[in-house]
Amino acid sequence: MKQIISIIFIAMLLPSLSYAEDQANHKIKEPVSGIKSLSPKLRGLLAKEMQALQNGMQSIIPAYVSGNWNEIAQIADKMQGSYILKQSLSDDQKKELHTSLSSSFLKLDQQFHYLSGMLKHVAKNKKTELIGFYFSKLSETCVSCHTQFATHRFPALEPKEPMTEHSH
Ligand code: HEC
Repeated sequence: MKQIISIIFIAMLLPSLSYAEDQANHKIKEPVSGIKSLSPKLRGLLAKEMQALQNGMQSIIPAYVSGNWNEIAQIADKMQGSYILKQSLSDDQKKELHTSLSSSFLKLDQQFHYLSGMLKHVAKNKKTELIGFYFSKLSETCVSCHTQFATHRFPALEPKEPMTEHSH
């Protein structure tokens, strides 16, 4: 029964992702220049980290539907610790990151770390419903940050014309 509920929950996740996209579209769009002005080395690190995050998210689903809480906790732990802004960068690189990226980017990054930490915590405590909840919240954070800072990479996330929202 629990398994069936989990599967239904995952089926429900997809619409919630596009809901997150809609929500994110209401936020003010920041110029992407911050990302584009990063040195090629830092930008390369960022892309590598993003790939790792994507792999992590993709591995969580099979672990979740089979009740493999330990594996989820391990993946969440890696996601929490491995992201570029937490890596041991040189002082100059840290300075570069903090001066190039806006405070809302750094806030989203913090939010992301908070949510991975929560996912790890609830996985350790085997709280099935909460694992689904925090997984969904994490996905919203990916979409939210990409909508604000990575539409050059994901043009489909470009905020829509405000008028279309209210037309009947
Ligand atoms: C705090 C902001 C932020 C968060 C949170 C975030 N991303 Fe990203 N992501 C970016 C930016 C910015 C780029 C574009 C980087 C560039 O153009 O150099 C990007 C690019 C990517 C890419 C493309 C990398 C490539 O090879 O070019 C993938 C895949 C990706 N993100 C996955 C994810 C996933 C999955 C999550 C959530 C688990 C996530 N991201 C969360 C900011 C974020």
